[in-house]
Order: sequence, then C-alpha cells, then structure tokens
Amino acid sequence: MTEPRRVQLPAPDDFEGWRDAARGLVKAGVLPEAVVWQVPGGVLDLFGEDLPTPPAPSFAVPRAFVDMARSAICHSDPERFALLYAMLWKLRSNRHAMEDRADPLLDRLQRLAKEVRRDAHKMHAFVRFREVEGQGGSRFVAFFEPDHHIVRNEAGFFVRRFANMRWSILTPELSIHWDGKTLSEGPGATRADAPAGDPLEAVWKTYYANIFNPARLKVGAMLKEMPKKYWRNMPETSLVQPLIAGARSRELEMIDRSMAKQGLENALGAERRLEPGSNVRATWEALLTEARGCTRCDLYKCGTQTVFGEGALDAAILFVGEQPGDQEDLAGRPFVGPAGQLFDAALEKAGIDRSTTYVTNAVKHFKFVQRGKKRIHSKPDAGEIEACRWWQESERALIKPAVTVALGATAARSLTGKTLTISRAREAPVTLRDGSECWITVHPSFLLRIPEEERRREERALFVRDLERIKARAAELAT
Ligand code: URA
Repeated sequence: MTEPRRVQLPAPDDFEGWRDAARGLVKAGVLPEAVVWQVPGGVLDLFGEDLPTPPAPSFAVPRAFVDMARSAICHSDPERFALLYAMLWKLRSNRHAMEDRADPLLDRLQRLAKEVRRDAHKMHAFVRFREVEGQGGSRFVAFFEPDHHIVRNEAGFFVRRFANMRWSILTPELSIHWDGKTLSEGPGATRADAPAGDPLEAVWKTYYANIFNPARLKVGAMLKEMPKKYWRNMPETSLVQPLIAGARSRELEMIDRSMAKQGLENALGAERRLEPGSNVRATWEALLTEARGCTRCDLYKCGTQTVFGEGALDAAILFVGEQPGDQEDLAGRPFVGPAGQLFDAALEKAGIDRSTTYVTNAVKHFKFVQRGKKRIHSKPDAGEIEACRWWQESERALIKPAVTVALGATAARSLTGKTLTISRAREAPVTLRDGSECWITVHPSFLLRIPEEERRREERALFVRDLERIKARAAELAT
C-alpha cells in the first residue's frame, strides 16, 4: 500500500494554500483517500512525507464550488480539507456535480459553508468595543469568540466600518489590530485580556452618527454587510432608521417631488403588511429612492421611470420577472399589463394571494425599440442583467423570502448567474449564492405567445402546477 500524501497548510483558514495543493494533487491523480491534510495545532499526522509542492496548473471549477470552498475552509471541522478535496475530485469527472442535490458530500459541505457564514454574521453583529486609554490616545478593544476560523476573513468588514478608529479584536485564536492605516495580527487572547465594563453604547452611537455620511448611504450594501435580524443587538443601529430617513428626505428635496411622490405611492400601494415606520419598510423606501437614481447601465435613459419591486415585505415567496413592459413602465409597477393579468389568473388558480408575495423584475427599466407609435419590447443583454442584479439582490436581502421564483430565463440568469433551459430547470429547485432556495418556471409572456390552443392550455396548466408546488414548498419551509 502506498503511503498517504501529507499536506501541511500554514493556517486553518488558508484557502489559497489548500487550493494550490489540491490543484497539484488532482493533476497528479492523487485519490482523496490518499491525502492527509494538516494545519498547525490540528490532528497529528503519523504517515507520509511532505508533499513536494507541484506547479499549480489551472483547473477550471465552477464558481459555486469556489464560493462554497472559501467559506467551508474556515469551518472548525477537521475534515473540511479532505471533504473539499473529495468534492473537487468529483468535479473533475462531472462538471455538474455541484447541481446534484441528492449528494450527501455536497450537502455536508454546503452546511459547513452556511455555518461559517452564520458565524461571520454573528461576529459583525455582536462585537462590542470598550474604550481603553493608552499611549497615543484611546483605542477600542473587543473580545469575541467565534465558532470557526473566520477572524482573518472578517477583518475587512471592521476596517471598512470603523476605518477612522484605532481598534483591536481579541479572539482565542488570534487578535487583529487596526491603527487607522494598517492591519496587523497578534497571538490569541482570553476574555480577561479585554477591558471589562459596559460596552460603549453612548460613545459608539455618537461616533456612528458623526461618521454617517448620508451622501454615501448605500442601503443595499448595508443590508448585505449587516443582516437586519442582528440590527437590534447593536447600540448604533437604533440610529440607522432615522439616519436613513434623514438622508432620504434630503435626497427627495433634490428631485422632482411630484414624480417621487407618485412613484412612491404606486409602489407602496401594494405594500400593506408591515407597520409604517418599521425598519424594514424604511429601508425598503430608501432602496426605492436609491433605485430611482440608478445609472448602473444605460437603460435609465430608455424607460419613463424605474419600476421597482412591490408587495409584502415579509413575503415567503418572491417572484422575479424579466423587465417592465410598456404598461408597467407607464404605471411604475411590475406585472400590471397583459403578462401581469395572466400571472394574476395563474396565481389565483394555484391559491396564492399576490398581496402576500413580493413581485419584482431582474431589470428595472423598460428596454424597447420605437416602431412608429409603438414601443416594442427588446430583451435585456447580459451586461444589463448583471448591472441590475444589485437591486434584485438587495430586495431579497431585505425581504429574505423562503422561496425565490425565477419567471423565465432572464430572471433565472440574474439569480443563478447561469443560462438555463427552463423545461429542465423547472423540475427541481436550485440553491442561490446566499444559500436560499430558488424555483424556476416559465415567464407568463411565453404563455401569451403560444399560438396553438391545446399547447397553450397544457403549458398554462404546467405553470399553475409549478406555482402550486412553490406554494407548498414555501409553506413547508415556514413550518
Ligand atoms: N414582464 C416582466 O417580466 N415583468 C413585468 O413587470 C411585466 C412583464
């Protein structure tokens, strides 16, 4: 029996080191069971010689694997490197292995990645600083005990957020320090090494209010960095809503008030589930305002207005269409024209109350070519879909639906990043980058265009069947 190959990684969160070694091993044809992975302080390895570092040739793996691996590598499970290598080995012979939802290995790795992401969110939310006077002025120090090896990866979050302060975060594994210019690392620490006493809620709040720059407010970015369920745990986040509201009213003063009011009322018309003044609603309104000024691609020059999503902000089901049509562009609301009417009828047949859902589009402006008096729909291209993905992701980050539904190929592309064949993709859900579930079905406009009556009837029935499945799945996930 040949001896196992030993790979010594310098740090427990070393994704690049793992990736380079794994590429070399795959290239050399080394089977997963023949590799022992080791990190400092990890499981003692009794076999084998050090692996000579082979040149790392390029080996194309799906983006979804890389994203998952970057997170999973930070898990405290000692088997993570071996599991990832086994998955990489699978991908070598099956490029679609990441889509096999029945694969227990993939399931386990996705769970590891999810646990790491949750740990990172907790760190963003629960780190609490205390002020310490020292040489060179005051410094803010916090102790935090993560479950996984996330600290190095998450340092950037705190640098961006508290760039103007000098701070240290102490953890049992390592400590990180920011002096306002550079980030450095030190040894691990205990809770006793951090100052005791109340966290600096008042100081923190004042600081946060002072550094808050409404002109640079990007609600979508804030949402992604700081999930809303943790907001209430941070002293400064009680300021977020008034600050957003203040920024928004200042911004509204600068734009045509009547247009803004009209659009806002349209959009709020269908939003009836959350209390006025709730954080989610204030944040959604701020997103809407931000979206109105969007110039991420040239389509803002095309339509009459931004057609943002609308609906229940606590929706379990969030539908994503392609782009507003002629009537939607004029009304400022999604799915109100012919495709919207067919959509409404199918929802009713499937027993879904549209007012409990949230409906939006992958692209928020109407793209068309003018033919005489008519404005003829023109498909958004890949660049436009990509530019607009920001809004769809911000809406989903805020609403956190149990199930997202892609209506047609443009929505599927915006959500999954892939070009999918609907007939195949509609049979099983896919997992999105944020770990949530997405179902794919046809676009209602497709059903409007089928000329033969019998086929039209069959396809409409299939669409209703998809909606019924989605309804059942959303109910299942809610229990
Ligand atoms: N088609 C879409 O994709 N969205 C709409 O809002 C209307 C038609």
